[in-house]
Amino acid sequence: SASNQNGGRSGARSLSPSPVSDDLQKIDVNPPKGTRDFPPEDMRLRNWLFHNFQEVSRLFGFEEVDFPVLESEALFIRKAGEEIRDQLYCFEDRGNRRVALRPELTPSLARLVIQKGKSVSLPLKWFAVGQCWRYERMTRGRRREHYQWNMDIIGVPAVTAEAELISSIITFFKRIGITASDVGFRISSRKVLQEVLRCHSIPEHLFGKVCIIIDKIEKLPLDVIKNDLKSAGMSEAAIEELLRVLSIKSLTELEGEAVADLKLLFSLAEKFGYSDWIQFDASVVRGLAYYTGIVFECFDRDGKLRAICGGGRYDQLLSTFGGDDIPACGFGFGDAVILELLKEKGLLPPLNHQVENIVCALDHNLQGAASMVATTLRGKGQSVDLVLESKPLKWVFKRAARINAQRLILVGTTEWQKGMVGVKILSSGEQYEIKLDELE
Ligand code: HAM
Repeated sequence: SASNQNGGRSGARSLSPSPVSDDLQKIDVNPPKGTRDFPPEDMRLRNWLFHNFQEVSRLFGFEEVDFPVLESEALFIRKAGEEIRDQLYCFEDRGNRRVALRPELTPSLARLVIQKGKSVSLPLKWFAVGQCWRYERMTRGRRREHYQWNMDIIGVPAVTAEAELISSIITFFKRIGITASDVGFRISSRKVLQEVLRCHSIPEHLFGKVCIIIDKIEKLPLDVIKNDLKSAGMSEAAIEELLRVLSIKSLTELEGEAVADLKLLFSLAEKFGYSDWIQFDASVVRGLAYYTGIVFECFDRDGKLRAICGGGRYDQLLSTFGGDDIPACGFGFGDAVILELLKEKGLLPPLNHQVENIVCALDHNLQGAASMVATTLRGKGQSVDLVLESKPLKWVFKRAARINAQRLILVGTTEWQKGMVGVKILSSGEQYEIKLDELE
């Protein structure tokens, strides 16, 4: 029937069917590949997660910001050959402007910082939780749309900023029951690579490109990586030196400017009390071209999942947009991998729909009275599920159980004439009558 095709609602209650037209098609009820619906049970989980993101950000004194999901495509075009560029959802709008769904929040943040200019006092400590779009190959924890929690500090050149950011992520983990035996951070600094390039007289502007090539080292055969580095303009000797440096797992084997930053970060970590969570690993470079200093990634220790979050320092991003550079660092933390991890560890919180009161008229003439009762309770800040149709009591009890109601308020003729209603405490079965104005 037509009503069936309009959403599968058959039976007496469906709205009058719209006329059947020839081109009426059954729609695919699944959302587009790689995207999600959030039915109530998933929305509760998402709200719980976001609430924790927000609470941790608040604990660290950060202010919340947001940007449009749709941005100019130009904001995301960088020439370094990043994967994120090929995954861009981009199109021309009706006014012939090239636009894109944001694949990340950092370029928008940079845009806003430039726009604010001197009107803001530094440092800025900003956080955001927003949806990002990437046309990815789908794997566990990687999808085409995800929400990302970002915290960024703008205007602090010292590594104290990175230490603070990592501390906030760990605070978040602790809140949700994740420990240092579940996850760890791999930390390095791009300055380590930069020094190798400098020693071999490789021009600065190749740096981003080289980082992007190296970031693929675990995904591609070594020959391919070497070839790519060669085509990027690196000599055999420089490539060998680079690969040697990348395999270093101990800070003591390193020298130069990068080490000072890293050493300070690790000593701050001790004071913060999170040394157990972090390790130095020169092979971490990250896949975004704009990082200039410390970079870090968080991984699950069982090695089953993709990166849980990642971030780093990007002191020169603003000038690529024509602004004056301001030192900055931050991280992005997705909603997908962490939920996989929580599921895996049995740490998903039990979240039920909960309404404090269910209010029901015992006679359909009393529907108006029941609305009054509901309004009174809501005015006192209590949540109320008002039964909107005449229903048998058995149905009402079933519903009360489904919505985890604490109290059932029954509006019956005799009680109502006395200005009273019946109250049943559903956990204990205790029952009494109460005056309307005494309802709390
Ligand atoms: P990113 O490493 O591209 O960094 O992404 C950060 C995090 O977002 C990842 O670790 C992961 O949790 C999540 N994520 C990314 N792509 C997907 C996907 N397709 N599906 C599910 N989750 C995903 C950035 O985006 C930087 N802008 C972060 C940053 C902020 N750096 C400085 N400030």
